[in-house]
Amino acid sequence: MENSIRSLQQEINDATLNSQADIESFRLRYTVRKGLIAALFSQLKSVSPTDRPNIGIMLNQLKESAEARIAEATDSISHHEESSQPSIDLTLPGRISFTGSEHPVQKVLGEMKGIFSAMGFAMATGPELELDSYNFDMLNFPPDHPARDMQDTFFVKRNGNEDDVLLRTHTSPVQVRVMLDQPPPIRVICPGKVYRNEAISSRSYCVFHQLEGLYIDKGVTFADLKATIYSFAHQMFGSEVKLRFRPSFFPFTEPSAEVDVTCYLCGGKGCKVCKKSGWLEIMGCGMVHPNVIQNCGIDPEVWSGYAFGMGVDRTVLLHYKIDDIRLLFENDLRMLRQFTA
Ligand code: DAH
Repeated sequence: MENSIRSLQQEINDATLNSQADIESFRLRYTVRKGLIAALFSQLKSVSPTDRPNIGIMLNQLKESAEARIAEATDSISHHEESSQPSIDLTLPGRISFTGSEHPVQKVLGEMKGIFSAMGFAMATGPELELDSYNFDMLNFPPDHPARDMQDTFFVKRNGNEDDVLLRTHTSPVQVRVMLDQPPPIRVICPGKVYRNEAISSRSYCVFHQLEGLYIDKGVTFADLKATIYSFAHQMFGSEVKLRFRPSFFPFTEPSAEVDVTCYLCGGKGCKVCKKSGWLEIMGCGMVHPNVIQNCGIDPEVWSGYAFGMGVDRTVLLHYKIDDIRLLFENDLRMLRQFTA
């Protein structure tokens, strides 16, 4: 009896249990009611009473080890099946991530910069937090000039002396910085943000973009200014647009003009955007006032020049048919995603 148990134990230990089928035939051979282990149990009554307890223990161990092998093999097969399942579903559609896009203002500014840089203009920038003196005094605004009130200014530090600080109301102080910084000839454009304390609406916002231009050289005339503006406007708004220069006033230019182009939406016939006038104002410009040139330490008897300044945002709105300027500053992703290349 003991030998039979040992040889069965050996068999059980050596059995190969790699599949469900292996396990099933193992179970049928050893552990079912009519299996080999049960057959040995049924012989227990014929064992002598002295040996019976030991044989009983051996039989129980045999049965337990057979059951343990079944449990262990079942476990490892189901584990194997689980881990061989692919952990990702390759049939799922991919998730496309938003990679960002160029802001519409930057797109239009980029186009403007491209046109001027092809004409030989370099880029200059200045701080948005500006000295009052650069924003106004150096640009020939007298202390009590009404233009200071015309530009509703965000003052940051205001003691009435030369270190007063404000958020620049236009990009013209960059002209001053460039002239103080480098000797003529000078040919730069200065794009950037400007700030005005205006009532906010779909048409005006407290911050917007301007692009300033400055050219200082010997013998510069108004004809040079006109040629530059014509060339720019035809490239930017279409070769068919007509231009008109209206006399105007700015403290920092003399003479000064405002420039209109025929409305490129209606072709000059008159529409809602141009308020039936057929014209759209695009910029202010003029010959740099000799006082400004002098203020910046350059001799106005030798050097002269022209300057211009234009708003960028309105062109952006017209270009992309956006009907509210605030959308340009809110950075709502639903809006920005529409400008992905
Ligand atoms: N700085 C003016 C403004 O903000 C725009 C401007 C007009 C700039 C004429 C110029 C210029 O350089 O010559 O309204």
